[in-house]
Amino acid sequence: MKVDKLIINAKQLLTLQGSAKPRTKKEIEDIHIIKNGAIAIKNGKIIEVGLSQKIKQKYEADKILNAVEKVVMPGFVDPHTHPVFVNTRENEFEMRIKGKSYVEISQSGGGIRSSIQAVRKASEDELYELAEKRVWRMITNGTTTIEAKSGYGLSTKSEIKMLKVIKRLKKHLPIDIIPTFLGAHEFPTEYKDNHEEYIRILKEEMMPEVKKQNLAKYCDIFTEKHVYNIEQSRDILNRAKELGFKIRMHADEIEPIGGAELAAEVSAISADHLGAASDSGIAAMKDAGVIAILLPGTIFSLGMKSYARARDMIDAGLPVALATDYNPGSCNCDSMQFIITLACLQMKMTVAEAITAATINAAYSLEMGDEIGSLEIGKQADILIMDMPSYEFLPYHFGSNNVQAVIKNGKVIWENK
Ligand code: NIG
Ligand code: FE
Repeated sequence: MKVDKLIINAKQLLTLQGSAKPRTKKEIEDIHIIKNGAIAIKNGKIIEVGLSQKIKQKYEADKILNAVEKVVMPGFVDPHTHPVFVNTRENEFEMRIKGKSYVEISQSGGGIRSSIQAVRKASEDELYELAEKRVWRMITNGTTTIEAKSGYGLSTKSEIKMLKVIKRLKKHLPIDIIPTFLGAHEFPTEYKDNHEEYIRILKEEMMPEVKKQNLAKYCDIFTEKHVYNIEQSRDILNRAKELGFKIRMHADEIEPIGGAELAAEVSAISADHLGAASDSGIAAMKDAGVIAILLPGTIFSLGMKSYARARDMIDAGLPVALATDYNPGSCNCDSMQFIITLACLQMKMTVAEAITAATINAAYSLEMGDEIGSLEIGKQADILIMDMPSYEFLPYHFGSNNVQAVIKNGKVIWENK
């Protein structure tokens, strides 16, 4: 049978085949390796996965990629990024080295608020050009799907502008981009002493307008002691649900204020960060089916020690995913490969668990587990050819790119020549 493309002779083909739901407990470790594996691709989809010998006998193609001595695996899914902004904030990185904390920097005029003015002033084209480059860097590091948040405009006009930029990125770049509205990222300076009014604007103006223009699938919030408290978060998220948004949350990053519990209460799709989540929060998330998205790059870049308790979460039966949290402040990292290294070293996830968390579980956290995240028949052919002798090499060889080729919907979109 003739197909469009074959990938053959992979030393290890990680299919991540498994039950059609986020992987938990022991299943997280089952990445399903085929030695000397191959994939047949037609119309951007996976037609068959199996032993090279068998696939080569059964299929013909004009395009054949030889992955001899290489690892083949699903493209990374990065379910938490903030790629649309103007100025980078490396000055804050240096301030943290000298001992200032993220919260202290935020409260003394830095932080999210220091990204707002430039975004408000920038044109859609300017923002697009900057973000496009950043997303391409993610692609070259093996990411084939991202979630992207607004949240540096904090006015109806500027948040809509950011979401329009994300829509354009989605249209022009060769990967899937899922938009999230994050108007509740901070209180803008003009409402720093009048939170009620900003929350009213969020609920009555911004969120209905974003919904009307259909610019975001999810509504997110930064629930943290120095930003949105639990009552404010509950109020905003319930309104978001009423308008038809699905919920994601920045929860319990620094202080255990009950963000994980609230994520369970509002049936969030994901709760992200969770460095300070309580046992009861973890249990509540599990019961409510909330996916934990862990962001070890942020803790690393903030120079903190409080990595999320991935082992306890996995033991409790919580599905765990990983993301970069790429943003100008707390984590300017675009590589899911480096995030996997951190997950292994700092959160004691096994390499296989971290790979599951960065692919199929991340896909489920975007409600796309049926289409992406594993190499199974009928799924999108979102595939990486990795220049590595084994999958364990991935986190072990850090600080440079292990990707040989990035394939999205069956097409090679980037190659390391
Ligand atoms: O996920 N926590 C909130 N938002 C980002 C930080 C954004 C910024 O500092 O600009 C985060 O870490
Ligand atoms: Fe974030």
